[in-house]
Amino acid sequence: MSKDSLDTLRCKIEDLDTALLKLLNERAGVSRRIGKLKAKDGLGIYDRDREESIYEYLARHNKGPLKTSEINRIFSEIISVSRKLQSAVVGDDTESQVKSIAAVDTSTPSKNTSVYGIFGNPVAHSMSPLIHNAAFRLLGIDAIYLPFEVKDLQGAVAGMRVLQLRGASITHPFKTKIIGLIDEIDVTAKEVGAVNTLILDGDSIRGINTDWTGAVRCIEGLLPVKGNHFVVVGAGGAARAVVFGITREGGKVTLVNRTRDNGLALAEAFGLPFVPLGEIEDISGDCLINTTPVGMYPDVAEMPIPKGVLSRYKAVVDIIYNPFKTRLLTEAEAAGCMTKNGIDMFVFQGAEQFRIWTGREAPVKEMKEVVYHRLLVSGH
Ligand SMILES: NC(=O)c1ccc[n+]([C@@H]2O[C@H](COP(=O)([O-])OP(=O)(O)OC[C@H]3O[C@@H](n4cnc5c(N)ncnc54)[C@H](OP(=O)(O)O)[C@@H]3O)[C@@H](O)[C@H]2O)c1
Repeated sequence: MSKDSLDTLRCKIEDLDTALLKLLNERAGVSRRIGKLKAKDGLGIYDRDREESIYEYLARHNKGPLKTSEINRIFSEIISVSRKLQSAVVGDDTESQVKSIAAVDTSTPSKNTSVYGIFGNPVAHSMSPLIHNAAFRLLGIDAIYLPFEVKDLQGAVAGMRVLQLRGASITHPFKTKIIGLIDEIDVTAKEVGAVNTLILDGDSIRGINTDWTGAVRCIEGLLPVKGNHFVVVGAGGAARAVVFGITREGGKVTLVNRTRDNGLALAEAFGLPFVPLGEIEDISGDCLINTTPVGMYPDVAEMPIPKGVLSRYKAVVDIIYNPFKTRLLTEAEAAGCMTKNGIDMFVFQGAEQFRIWTGREAPVKEMKEVVYHRLLVSGH
């Protein structure tokens, strides 16, 4: 009985494989024809917006039992093969470039290799090693960037001097604690009240903040900071950098937070009006920025504010980037707002670190690509 049913099920799988094989080859044929059209119109093979829309379509229509991250992994291979087919038609090597940036570097570090890292706890989820190592490889810089899960911050700072780490990123929960442990803090990091970057100069360690630069460059991808009114939701570490950047660049901020005392403390530090989260329906602005973790994976159905208020804004930025389109951004698009996720803020703060550490402009486009690639292919 059980052998019969095993045979029956295997027959079913063979039928499905036959159908899949036919469909995959049909898809490849269509993809080749698209490659020919791209070649005729002088278009590049790689189109991130188009690929993103494919993944979004799949996520929307996936009824399981496969998880969306599993579907993404399968389609990542299909799309990669399609790019290769189109590359053969167009004579463009984008596919191999994306792959080689994302690939693990197997070259052996030497005594001349500069070492950088990130101090945090936890740190396993950080994508900073991904973007910095990609940038080092792309520009042919003999350097490596490593994650350090730090239990003793003072020990890590001493270790940085002893081991001559050239620079380090500082992440949760150390951005303010690090201030008392280093030799020098630049004036803007002092004003933000947080350090996210260390630079070793001889035996001296200097702390700076690039989060606010990342936030400003991210927002400016949507609308100018100067002269616009921003409603910033959240009053944690990320909000500090966002609020500092906006006010420094001439934007107006209203701060909104769940816990009154935390919100008032940040609002008073920067001289801003404060509104409790429960009263967000009473205000409006040009751009709403979410700096809370609400909506981040795995709680992707959540959003930090009622969706009815979204139509009062021209633009909405969510600094979360996992998932890269949060429910807040989906609802904001439906309400007709321009939107941006947190990938730009993350990549731009890293690009600024890279520039300060190496004296070279960071390959921002490729850094963004590796982040998208990781989020799409590896799931969460
Ligand atoms: N894109 C980037 O480059 C970037 C950089 C940094 C951080 N981030 C992201 O930004 C988020 C916040 O990070 P953080 O370091 O600022 O965190 P944090 O210091 O812990 O602050 C969290 C803030 O969110 C509010 N909050 C938390 N849960 C809430 C809820 N359920 N409803 C309403 N408000 C809530 C908190 O309000 P209370 O005061 O009421 O507790 C607080 O104001 C994280 O998702 C992080 O991944 C992104």
